[in-house]
Amino acid sequence: MTWVRAHTNIALIKYWGKKDEALKLPYNSSLSMTLAAFYTDTKVEYSAALTEDQFFLDGIEASEQERLRVSAFLDEVRRRYGIKHYARVTSINHVPKAAGLASSASAFAALALASTIDLNLDSEELSRLARQGSGSASRSIYGGFVLWEKGSDDKSSYAYPVKMEAWPDLVMIACLLNENKKAFASSSAMKETVNDSVYYPAWVKQSEKDLDALLKALQDHNIEDLGRIAQGNALRMHASLLAVNKWYFEPETIEIMNRVRSLQKDIPVYFTMDAGPNVKLITTKKYLDTVLEHLNGIKTIVSEQGPGVHIL
Ligand code: PMV
Repeated sequence: MTWVRAHTNIALIKYWGKKDEALKLPYNSSLSMTLAAFYTDTKVEYSAALTEDQFFLDGIEASEQERLRVSAFLDEVRRRYGIKHYARVTSINHVPKAAGLASSASAFAALALASTIDLNLDSEELSRLARQGSGSASRSIYGGFVLWEKGSDDKSSYAYPVKMEAWPDLVMIACLLNENKKAFASSSAMKETVNDSVYYPAWVKQSEKDLDALLKALQDHNIEDLGRIAQGNALRMHASLLAVNKWYFEPETIEIMNRVRSLQKDIPVYFTMDAGPNVKLITTKKYLDTVLEHLNGIKTIVSEQGPGVHIL
């Protein structure tokens, strides 16, 4: 039986808010780095003998809520490609909960390939399909730096790799702060921000500008510009959420933001945060040791850039 591996990713320009909930079409394009250190392995076995989809996660039967989410995704696969049978899905997550990196990105990228392995879909189609599971999963189809073009319908909303000279020096440091379940899910928080945040239109407008500027920083291998833009973009995403009376920050979040701010006076290190309290830092290998010294007392995992979804 074929196992598939997909890596998770960290967004430097965030996806925050859907224009179309059913198709998971975003209001703005986003850009991420695929991470070598965090991934999900998955296999899918279709069988005529099954009367419903089954989902085993990390060696045990998944919760009914998790099973239903996987099953809804498989319904879409069956609808699109005329598959008749239910499936048994087995997944192992190598994404520590405390890292605060969405395992849904690697989970649905792996599931997209594992559930269609005999169909030989191209990467663009896999990205569209993964998007239906979780928006950020559309980017985990590829390795390195990846742009998810927002598009305007199912066909035009997919991710592709950024054309650039490789930049292996750029690394991410995940600070392992908190294993608590996040205060609220990203999907409902996004929806509320779209509907009620007075800052939402400004977020969308500025994100498009941030994306252009960040693409230039990537081409130039300019860590100062890249970090400044990514950090600002993350703060603006959280600002749009603050405006509906919601936040993910906890004391440790602010503590690390403050440490990074003082380090920034001397070296290029920047932070970003997603739908949770955890902080991820971006720097280049040259500064890694210095940054890690200043993070003493905080558990960290360093990640280089990882590959796209692949068969093991
Ligand atoms: O793919 P989702 O629905 O889990 O949303 C992810 C949203 C962020 O992680 C906050 C940002 C991003 O672009 O990954």
